[in-house]
Amino acid sequence: MNLKIKNDLSKDLQFIFEMDLLKSLSSDDYQMLNLLEKPKDTSFGQMALPVFGLSKPLKMSPNEIAKQIVNFLVEKKKQGMFNYIDEIIAVSGFINFKFNSKYLTSELVSFLSHKPVGFNPQKRNKKLVIDYSSPNVAKPMNIGHLRATVIGQALRNLAEAQGYEVIGLNHLGDWGVQFGKLAWAYQEWKDQYDFEQEPFKALFDMYVRFHDEAEKDNSLNEKGAETFIKLEKGDPDITKLWKMFVEISMKEYQRLWDRLGVKHDLVRGESFYSDQLEQTVKLVEDKGILEFSEGAYVVNVGEDMPPCLIKKSDGASLYATRDLASAIYRKEVLGCDLNLYVVGVDQTLHFKQVFKTLEMMGYEWAKDCHHISFGMYRFKDLGKMSTRKGRAIFLEDVLNKSVELVKEIIEVKNPTLANKDFVAEQVGVGAVIFNDLVNDRVRDVDFDWNKILDFEGDSGPYIQYTNVRCLSVIDKFTGPLLSSYTELEKFNLIELEKEEVDLICTLLGYEQTLQQAFDKFKPSIVANYLLDLAKAYNTFYNKHRILGLENQTLTSRRVLITKHAQQVLSAGLEILNIQVPVKM
Ligand code: ARG
Repeated sequence: MNLKIKNDLSKDLQFIFEMDLLKSLSSDDYQMLNLLEKPKDTSFGQMALPVFGLSKPLKMSPNEIAKQIVNFLVEKKKQGMFNYIDEIIAVSGFINFKFNSKYLTSELVSFLSHKPVGFNPQKRNKKLVIDYSSPNVAKPMNIGHLRATVIGQALRNLAEAQGYEVIGLNHLGDWGVQFGKLAWAYQEWKDQYDFEQEPFKALFDMYVRFHDEAEKDNSLNEKGAETFIKLEKGDPDITKLWKMFVEISMKEYQRLWDRLGVKHDLVRGESFYSDQLEQTVKLVEDKGILEFSEGAYVVNVGEDMPPCLIKKSDGASLYATRDLASAIYRKEVLGCDLNLYVVGVDQTLHFKQVFKTLEMMGYEWAKDCHHISFGMYRFKDLGKMSTRKGRAIFLEDVLNKSVELVKEIIEVKNPTLANKDFVAEQVGVGAVIFNDLVNDRVRDVDFDWNKILDFEGDSGPYIQYTNVRCLSVIDKFTGPLLSSYTELEKFNLIELEKEEVDLICTLLGYEQTLQQAFDKFKPSIVANYLLDLAKAYNTFYNKHRILGLENQTLTSRRVLITKHAQQVLSAGLEILNIQVPVKM
């Protein structure tokens, strides 16, 4: 739905309340103008206003009300209003508005003359910090981290399109007692693992083994805890090992971030705050909100949730304390206006506690911190997806599998395609990203290969393919292209077809889609918009010939619309951080 058209129209429609018929209405009934919608069938117009809600207060049938309002509006139109509308028609309780072709095309041209397309610098001079991906050292990124990564990167792109200065932060999980455990394990067992060839695998295997053995022998945990204390005190040997673990892990993650096109600006892992924690605890204490309870220092954050743990009695700091320090750093050092955390729904309580503690500490900016929560993955056909040792599902395995399956599809559909491997990577990875982003993030995501790779369904490949289709039309066209503004007259020489109008209306909704998606922090709004756009283009493409028409002006008009569709499809894919193949 194109919000700009909707807003313009609903503003102009205020006039109907001058009608005698509507004078008796309460202010609630005025809200009806917000109900303007895009009709499912656009034959009678591109926008419709339902009047059923007025039937009761006016004691009249919806049809009769619609007719009377239409008569009134048609009179207004005769007096020169609504010149951007060709027809106003009452159809079974709806008032339908058919937009004028010239108006639509000139809107389209002016929208597309902004570069980059969809960019709206309304938040210029504002700074946004976004924490995303943030994996835990020595552990592979699992399929859950996929969400934190792709939703985060898409939101980052959206924020940039709104003009924000963005700082993408990797709040790497690189601190805590597990690093004492790992260092101890390394000193004991390093010779039994291949740190030369497969350092990350060695690290993870060692981590798993430590936990298995510690379950049987608790003394290992004590040794790990002692070693962590050494690390906290800055012991040079242990620090060296810890640095090595971080380096090995970052190298591994970097490979995946590269494949997913993910970029952070700063790594500010949990360890970064280790020397600020004492100060942080003191700040909490100075506010008089630190309490000692059941062997730990806590902040009581209210009846509706358990207290926020700040410090254990043995002095060890906690995840929450590091997040307090980190939030203060983001505000006071980085100077952010908005602070986003892209983290799964399982950490909801944690962020509630942290934000509430910040509020109780008197930071009015606590309201600018937002937990961007997301649901889990649900697997339909795990059978196709082997899990290593039956443990978590690794992100890399999923990407590899997807690329492999895409290769098989290409072999069947387009065996002579050049650069097959390259395209398979673009499509395979894009499909996994799209499947994640197309779902409202708060819901769980179904993971079903048939759906993810359905080139004709609601999938990433479908959108990529539609874009390729547009490119091939543009490529085959040899005539002169209408150059936007100057040739608008020619553009409208022949009335636009319904499918062209629908497509243009959809194109016009792009900018508002980005805005809405950012305001709600939901990339799914963009993904679903792209599906609508691809469908609108394919409907147009299947119904109307584009190339080689006798009327060359008509051909070049259709190529121009194709070009605009292509521009928006590829811009939208880029927002979602999905690659845009030129052939597939
Ligand atoms: N490392 C954490 C995890 O993988 C996510 C960190 C999220 N960011 C934060 N500031 N707590 O679960």
